[in-house]
Amino acid sequence: MFRRQDRVLVGVSGGKDSLSLWQGLVSLGYQADGIFIDLGIEDFSLPSRRVSENFAEKIGRPLHVISMKKELGFTIPDLKNRTQKYCSLCGSVKRYFLNHLARKLGYQVLVTGHNLDDEASSLLGNVINWHLKYLARKYPVLPEGNGFVRKAKPLCRFTAFEIREYAKRKGIEYLEDRCPLSPEATRLVYAEVMDQLEEKMPGTKLRFYLDYLRKAYPIFHEKVEDFMEKPLTVCEICGEPAVSSPCFVCRLKEEFKA
Ligand code: FES
Ligand code: ZN
Repeated sequence: MFRRQDRVLVGVSGGKDSLSLWQGLVSLGYQADGIFIDLGIEDFSLPSRRVSENFAEKIGRPLHVISMKKELGFTIPDLKNRTQKYCSLCGSVKRYFLNHLARKLGYQVLVTGHNLDDEASSLLGNVINWHLKYLARKYPVLPEGNGFVRKAKPLCRFTAFEIREYAKRKGIEYLEDRCPLSPEATRLVYAEVMDQLEEKMPGTKLRFYLDYLRKAYPIFHEKVEDFMEKPLTVCEICGEPAVSSPCFVCRLKEEFKA
C-alpha cells in the first residue's frame, strides 16, 4: 500500500477506526499525521474534534484541522437547508479536502479507516445496483496520478468488532456517535444483510470482499475508462481534478457567497 519512508496522512474522524489506524501506524514507526475536517455539525463536530485533538496530543503527532466554514463559507447544516443531496455532497467535500490538503502538504499517501464491514456492505450495495463505475475503482489502494494522491485503506480486512477490541486494549478514547444528519437508511440495510449472512455462514464478509478483489475487480477494472461518465479535467480555480471546471466545491462556494 505504501512504503516505510512515505509521509502518511490519516483522515481522522474521532471514531474507533481512524484513531486505531493512526495509533497502529505510529506504533509501527510510520510518519503518520492526521487531518480532521470540521463540518460544523452541532453537537457532533466539536466533540469529534476534541477527541481527535486530544489523541494527537497523546501520540505526539500533528493534526491538521480544516474548518469547512472558514474554507468554504458554509457548513454541512447550511448545505442541508439547500439540498437533499447534502449527505453525498458531504462525502465529496471530505474527499476533496483530503486530496487537496494531502497534495498541498506533500504527503505521499492518504489513508482512511474503512473496515471490512464498511467495504463488504458498500460492495453489496454496488453489486445490487450494478454501479459499474464504482466496482471498477473499488480497491483498497488506488495509485497516485492525474492530480490524486495515493489512497489506501489499511484496515479493510479487519471487522468493526476487531477494531473496537483493539481500540479498547490500547486505551484509545474515541467517539461512538454517528453523524446525526446522515440518513444512511440504505447503507444500514446492506450492513444488516451482511451481518445476517455472516451469522449464518461465518467468514462470508471476508470471502465476499477478498474474492471480489481477486476475481471480479480485475475484470471490471479493465473497462474502467468505459464506465466513466466523463473524462476528468482540472478545476481552473483550485487546480483539483474535477468532472467539470469550475469543480463542484468552487461552484458551491460561489453559490453560497451570492
Ligand atoms: Fe456528512 Fe454527516 S458526516 S452528512
Ligand atoms: Zn475547484
